[in-house]
Amino acid sequence: MDIDITEKQEAFINSTAFETLFGGAAGGGKSYGQLVDALLYALNYPKSKQIIFRRTFTDLEKSLIRVSLEFYPKEISQYNSSKHIWKFKNGSIIDFRLYRQRK
Ligand SMILES: Nc1ncnc2c1ncn2[C@@H]1O[C@H](COP(=O)(O)OP(=O)(O)OP(=O)(O)O)[C@@H](O)[C@H]1O
Ligand SMILES: [Mg+2]
Repeated sequence: MDIDITEKQEAFINSTAFETLFGGAAGGGKSYGQLVDALLYALNYPKSKQIIFRRTFTDLEKSLIRVSLEFYPKEISQYNSSKHIWKFKNGSIIDFRLYRQRK
C-alpha cells in the first residue's frame, strides 16, 4: 500500500485527543485525512466496526464515498455501494450513514 499524506493529515491521524478539529480550505484534504485514519484503524484492529456520519447523502457521496473509492486498496477491501459499507478481508467494516437529529 502506497499512501502519502500531508503534514496536517499526519498531525490529525496522530492526535490522541478525544476530539480533533481539522480546518482549512475546500479541497485541503480533510476527508482524505479522515479516510486514511479510518483505514489504518480498520487494518490495525481486525473485525473493528466504524461508522462515519454526514447529514445528507450528497455530503457522503461527494466527499467520503468518492474519495475512498479513489484510494482504498481493492486487494484487501471491497465497497458495497447499495449498503454504503467498506468490508475488509480482516473482518473490519467502515459504514457510511446519515445522521438524523431527533426532534
Ligand atoms: N494525501 C493525499 N494524497 C493524494 N490525494 C489527496 C491527499 N489528500 C487529499 N487528496 C485529494 O485531494 C482532493 C481533495 O481532498 P479532500 O476531499 O480530502 O478535501 P476536503 O478538505 O475534504 O475538501 P472539502 O472541504 O471540499 O470537503 C481529493 O480528490 C483527494 O483524493
Ligand atoms: Mg471533505
